[in-house]
Amino acid sequence: MRNFTFECATKIVFGKGTQAQAGPLAAAYGKHALLVYGGGSIKKSGLYDEVVRSLHDAGVAVTELPGVQANPRVSLVREGIAASRRDGVDFVLAVGGGSVIDTAKAVAEGVPYDGDVWDFFCGKAKIEKMLPVGTVLTIPAAGSESSDSNVITNEETHEKNGSASPMMRPVFSILNPELTYTLPPYQTACGCMDIMAHVMERYFTNEPHVELTDRLCTAILRTVLNNLPVVMRQPDDYDARAQIMWAGTIGQNGLVGTGREEDWANHVIEHQLSGFYDIAHGAGLSITFPAWMRYVAQSNPGKLFQFSTEVLGVEGDHYNPEHTVREGIDRFERVLRDSGLPTHLSEAGIGDERFEEMALRCTGGGVRTIGAYVPLGKSDIVNILRLAL
Ligand code: NZQ
Ligand code: ZN
Repeated sequence: MRNFTFECATKIVFGKGTQAQAGPLAAAYGKHALLVYGGGSIKKSGLYDEVVRSLHDAGVAVTELPGVQANPRVSLVREGIAASRRDGVDFVLAVGGGSVIDTAKAVAEGVPYDGDVWDFFCGKAKIEKMLPVGTVLTIPAAGSESSDSNVITNEETHEKNGSASPMMRPVFSILNPELTYTLPPYQTACGCMDIMAHVMERYFTNEPHVELTDRLCTAILRTVLNNLPVVMRQPDDYDARAQIMWAGTIGQNGLVGTGREEDWANHVIEHQLSGFYDIAHGAGLSITFPAWMRYVAQSNPGKLFQFSTEVLGVEGDHYNPEHTVREGIDRFERVLRDSGLPTHLSEAGIGDERFEEMALRCTGGGVRTIGAYVPLGKSDIVNILRLAL
């Protein structure tokens, strides 16, 4: 097991009715909040009114940044930065999912910075200062509510890039599972896929002696696999929603990656898909992961055998391990399909026209590899995309 430093300072306020605490929590960090939200789900559900009332009652002034789209755009971030400077915003409150939270984080990076905010996403600038960010989460998925990173799309270049800093962890996040009852089934499934992906990016490692974090990973993965079908049948099952919501946070706050080398190849490949084709991040991962598993199993099947037996419940056959691994991947893919997720590019209307270009972008022009469980070069990435067709 490797050395590590782990610090996750986000205060989590979890449970029924907790959105009423948004105002008092925000007031501890600022007097004027930028309220960031998406395309209307929080207005429809009444959450917008509750949060605005809570901010008002706590004496926090509000400037609004509505209209965040999935795969959030840098142009809106720039608008948020300008509005924040104009109105003297000193705190950013995200009410929504990963796209909203990532936008809020990007605005918080950009306000105290003199240059263009995209500099943080193309390696030109390092974050030195940020406004504090708080969140009210409405979809368990990205884990941005306590992660130290964000992902923004430059709609002009189709680049979808990340930035990261320990300063980026929200100061508080409000998690009320009831707020997720209104999620369309497809978004619920995409979110669950993303939660599992964050865990699997860490689970698939060559690092030996990581029993504790392996078991934590297994617990999160099995919890999501058990509760996903429940909420698909019964969207207002509080307990199942609560299990998924908490899984999403602890799966991406860094805990399950402690002491191990992480992989992240699927996220790098998926960000090309959502950057070029604007598909939901979870749907992209549901396409890349089964293909990636089949590809890397050819050269490094060990952890996939463990995944098949301990996570998917396949009876391990040590005389025919390929069979065990194949069955595990098939079962995993079946769960995704049963939840309405695509597992092939063709189902998302994506052909092979940009495979070379995407693989080049993943590898910095073909000079780098991605991933650690099996390092992947440009031709490996093209092969994985072909398997996913
Ligand atoms: O825009 P509204 O109207 O709010 O609708 C949203 C949106 O259409 C809807 N939604 C959210 N909560 C809802 C709801 N609809 C009804 N009821 C509710 N309670 O869901 C749709 C998707 O929202 P989005 O925020 O895009 O989803 P998600 O949380 O999956 O975020 C995806 C983004 O996060 C990034 C992804 O790349 C993607 O851009 N990621 C961020 C990470 C991080 N910062 O740590 C890590 C992840 O790997 C991921 O890359
Ligand atoms: Zn993700």
